[in-house]
Amino acid sequence: MLTDINNNKANDNKTMTSNLDVFQPPTFINTDDGNINILQLTDLHLYLDTSTTTSGINNHQSFVACLNQALNEDRRCDLILLTGDLVNEVDTIIYDRVFALLQQTGIPFACLAGNHDVTDEIDNGMSFEQRQFVAHNADPRLLSRHRIALNNWQLLLLDSSVPGKVYGSLGNKNLQWLRQTLANCHNPVMIAMHHHLLPMSSAWINAHITQDSSDFWALIKQFPQVKAVLTGHVHQNFESSKQGVAVYATPSTSYQFQPNQDEFGLDTEAKPGYRWLTLTAEGEIDTWVTRIAE
Ligand SMILES: [Fe+2]
Ligand SMILES: [Fe+2]
Repeated sequence: MLTDINNNKANDNKTMTSNLDVFQPPTFINTDDGNINILQLTDLHLYLDTSTTTSGINNHQSFVACLNQALNEDRRCDLILLTGDLVNEVDTIIYDRVFALLQQTGIPFACLAGNHDVTDEIDNGMSFEQRQFVAHNADPRLLSRHRIALNNWQLLLLDSSVPGKVYGSLGNKNLQWLRQTLANCHNPVMIAMHHHLLPMSSAWINAHITQDSSDFWALIKQFPQVKAVLTGHVHQNFESSKQGVAVYATPSTSYQFQPNQDEFGLDTEAKPGYRWLTLTAEGEIDTWVTRIAE
């Protein structure tokens, strides 16, 4: 495997941190067999205190268990992709911890911001209406408008987070970059971001969808090389399609939302999990979700 390293500090309005100088996201990965195996981990919701639990699940231990279980499978991993909500309280020390763990794997990795990476929810034991939402800049190691060439595929990473808000939005800058990038790329493309782009069968989750998703779909319609969209945010397995584009969302490495329910609720039966995606030399995608063992 050949991995190119390029120093990318592209995000807007980001603050510097001590580990930024050693962080270098991949810009291309080539493999001998023509396939790329991606491990997606999403919605870690980590706390500064690693003993913190949510609904009986230790968020930190559950993330580490997902990472270890996936990398102990009999499968080569070419890229680890974290699709947002890495933290549940914005603190550089938590990102330092996550990035140290990822660097220890020796595998190229890329991370995106979710709503919780740019918003602290104060009083999160209260109802949504009673909480305060405090905006933050995203950690500079979280990527936006970043392109990784994976053999003959292109992976495009977008930041859908809006500081101070739970919902997502791409905005004109991201959509313009996407249009320009797709106009100059005729290979198969997968797009990854945090917020979902298709309604779920849950009213409360749909309130927090990517607000300009119709602009996204109108744009994508002009570029048939887009094969798939990959997100987090909904804390459950989701596989669908729109306009011939496969749409995937993935369980959290921690707690799961109850599917098919209009009011907020946790699914205490569903285990934490992760998704594998193989982007094949033929331009196909094989993908599945694996739950953590007891
Ligand atoms: Fe989340
Ligand atoms: Fe989220």
